[in-house]
Amino acid sequence: MQDTTIAIECKDLGRKYETRGRKDKKETTALQGLNLTVRRGSVFGLLGPNGAGKTTTVRILATLLTPSSGSAAVMGFDVDKQANEVRRRIGLVLGGERGLYRSLTGRENLRYFAALNDIAPKLARVHIDELLEAVGLNDAGDTRVEEYSRGMRQRLHIARGLLNDPDIILLDEPTIGLDPIGALELRQMIPELASQGKTIFLTTHYMLEADLLCETVCLINHGAVVAMGSPTEIKQRFSKTRIIEVTCTDLSPVSEKLRVIPQVGRVESRIDGVFQKLTLHIEEGAIIQKEIAECLGEGVIESMVEREPNLEEAYISILGRN
Ligand SMILES: Nc1ncnc2c1ncn2[C@@H]1O[C@H](COP(=O)(O)OP(=O)(O)OP(=O)(O)O)[C@@H](O)[C@H]1O
Ligand SMILES: [Mg+2]
Repeated sequence: MQDTTIAIECKDLGRKYETRGRKDKKETTALQGLNLTVRRGSVFGLLGPNGAGKTTTVRILATLLTPSSGSAAVMGFDVDKQANEVRRRIGLVLGGERGLYRSLTGRENLRYFAALNDIAPKLARVHIDELLEAVGLNDAGDTRVEEYSRGMRQRLHIARGLLNDPDIILLDEPTIGLDPIGALELRQMIPELASQGKTIFLTTHYMLEADLLCETVCLINHGAVVAMGSPTEIKQRFSKTRIIEVTCTDLSPVSEKLRVIPQVGRVESRIDGVFQKLTLHIEEGAIIQKEIAECLGEGVIESMVEREPNLEEAYISILGRN
């Protein structure tokens, strides 16, 4: 029986790339046994270092690449054996400079892609107006894409991805290279789309973005899942790290001094006016405030607070162990 609550399911998904050098063939394993499940109507974030296999996963889900082993299904359809059914239900937003016709206007681009998608011109006209409005490009619809800013191009990519009214939207690093306001505007669109019942599958290197948007995040490395759960679960359960923030009056480099405490991991330091602010990653459960105070010396500490890691700190602590 097909589970109607699941939008995407990858089972032991594997993908190898073969590249031909001048003399020999080289094989790269991009995915090795990736297992994940995405709930329908949710925003799902795939995170991981460069080369972890995020784009490869997106391309497989979009039927642009076939799996080398294992399987992936979108809305219950196999990406390999039922690629046409999958294509009908997804919108792919790869972004960047490619995929748009620079000498055409935004509206003309969408008309062209609507025709490629076999959407009747009459229907397309209304739909395109709505989409331009939805992505905030109604004033720029008749401007050539070559005059668009990066953020405007990215929004046009999204409009293109929405043309076929997909159930699932795949976004590969949607906010890369956008200025803070452009990124904010784009991020605001994502919960709106999810509230319409669409499932959003995105990759990002921005942890704050993932934390804000995603119901579930999945950390992958070397083509396999390292941790998956809600941002809160990732911070609390998987990272096994707590953060201690110390404000001290000693501006000399003190990080090295703290390394004698075995439960102290990474130490970051920055100068803020007359203070040095230290962020210490410590092992969960360690009670070492006294040791820290002793290490730094008497009268040096202005304040010391312990808190939960944010998603970026949790990511560093989880992937730093791999
Ligand atoms: N067309 C290709 N030919 C050969 N190897 C490839 C190809 N595309 C990706 N790879 C390799 O597969 C692995 C996964 O790449 P992928 O692009 O999926 O990573 P990513 O997680 O998207 O990284 P990034 O964060 O840099 O975008 C890497 O080792 C990469 O070098
Ligand atoms: Mg990528």
